[in-house]
Amino acid sequence: MGGVVCWYIHKENRNAEVGHWLGSASTEHGLATRGGKAVLEYLFEVHDLHRIKMQCGVANVASRAVAERCGLTQEGTGRESHWITDGFVDHVLYSILAKEWAANPPVM
Ligand SMILES: CC(C)(COP(=O)(O)OP(=O)(O)OC[C@H]1O[C@@H](n2cnc3c(N)ncnc32)[C@H](O)[C@@H]1OP(=O)(O)O)[C@@H](O)C(=O)NCCC(=O)NCCS
Repeated sequence: MGGVVCWYIHKENRNAEVGHWLGSASTEHGLATRGGKAVLEYLFEVHDLHRIKMQCGVANVASRAVAERCGLTQEGTGRESHWITDGFVDHVLYSILAKEWAANPPVM
């Protein structure tokens, strides 16, 4: 159906980056959001991380909505930060801190 990936864990800084995708038959059921929340919970609680980030294409409304439903805060925009299909695309950086997750754990 798709996946939520943790691209890396930086152990020294206790941070990580996650991303998500779904096949077209599996969108609009809340699966990316549920998967994203589950991965955040796992990374904060099992790996004791401090900060987790997501980067979403500026025009990728669906992806940005997943980040926001998972409780991440928009920080800024990375200019032409990712190669998508046939060109570089600006991406919005989102993040969530462990204390924010603990204070307001999203409903699964
Ligand atoms: C980004 C992507 C995963 C988002 O998929 P999505 O289906 O919009 O996200 P979710 O799985 O969280 O589903 C949320 C949608 O399901 C709807 N929904 C329907 N039934 C639901 C239910 N039972 N529970 C929760 N949400 C439900 C929600 O209302 C929401 O739709 P809305 O935004 O129109 O309100 C998908 O568009 C995708 O794979 N795109 C291509 C890859 C990509 O761009 N990846 C990100 C790279 S930056």
